[in-house]
Amino acid sequence: MTNLSDTAQQLVAHGKGILAADESFSTADKRLREYGIEPSEEMRRKFRDMLLATPGIDTYLSGVILYEETLEQNADNGIPFATLLANEHVLPGIKVDQGLDEFPDSPGESITKGLLGLPERLQEYRDTYGARFTKWRAAIRIEGDRLPTSAMLVENAKRLASYAYEVQKAGMVPMVEPEVLLEGAHSRLRAREVVETTLHVLFDALAEQNVDLSGILLKTSMVLSGSKSGRTDTSEEVAEDTLAVLLASVPKEVPGIVFLSGGQGPDQATDNLRAITARAKEVQAPWILTFSYARALQEEALAVWKGKDEYEDAAREVFIGRLKKVQAALA
Ligand code: 13P
Repeated sequence: MTNLSDTAQQLVAHGKGILAADESFSTADKRLREYGIEPSEEMRRKFRDMLLATPGIDTYLSGVILYEETLEQNADNGIPFATLLANEHVLPGIKVDQGLDEFPDSPGESITKGLLGLPERLQEYRDTYGARFTKWRAAIRIEGDRLPTSAMLVENAKRLASYAYEVQKAGMVPMVEPEVLLEGAHSRLRAREVVETTLHVLFDALAEQNVDLSGILLKTSMVLSGSKSGRTDTSEEVAEDTLAVLLASVPKEVPGIVFLSGGQGPDQATDNLRAITARAKEVQAPWILTFSYARALQEEALAVWKGKDEYEDAAREVFIGRLKKVQAALA
């Protein structure tokens, strides 16, 4: 077994999951504003401190994905965030893509950027900050039968594969995330078709780049009806379609698959995860499945915290409460 596959397995094993706390400047600021908090560099730091310095998170979390700014910041106790996590045996990870550009061949679609200078950045994340894994996210929009285009899927998959190759070369585990967006009026059937095609194209590209599948993690969307479809799927429907797609497209060498919450509420994301992991057990799926949520883990804590020191303890209690529920949803 390689070191990379050890790390990948460590990230999904023992009934733990991964917190995504890697919102870019603009997304983090948007989240803070949603809860009436005036954003600033210091507020983003306090936001991360509220989550990451919560005592006992290591019971639930094997890793946390950070944004570059957070790697360079210290917790309230003066310890750099990445060290704070490592001291608790929570592996620090880092989002390494540099966001989305418009895809020139198809307006309305996006392409993820960040390959330029990536090897140098990876070395620094690993050597200076002790990052053990990384994330790269592509965003795939469904619009009727028109989107996604295959040109966009192929180009995003190629970049995900180039990224994964570079990250493994640098001795870290790449999390590959082709997020099929929940936004839209599409049916669950259409989402199922798009997730399956997306994953096929992705694994073709990973094979072409000779990426070692035993040393990656797949981060994927669940198969859900679009947020504007007017339909709420049952957890059983989500689980059945999600497992069908994964079994049809993800090689068994991949050690773990982690789910994003994608705009589902905390309870919905928890209930769907419970049904998915139960279904995976039923069909004897070859990979370990767990969560890698941002919003579904953070929302309730942010609503209590409101950016105020006096509410920090209460917010942390709510954060742990949600982590407990999500962990209990793992089969
Ligand atoms: P959400 O759980 O809020 O979808 O975020 C997870 C993530 O990392 C998206 O890239």
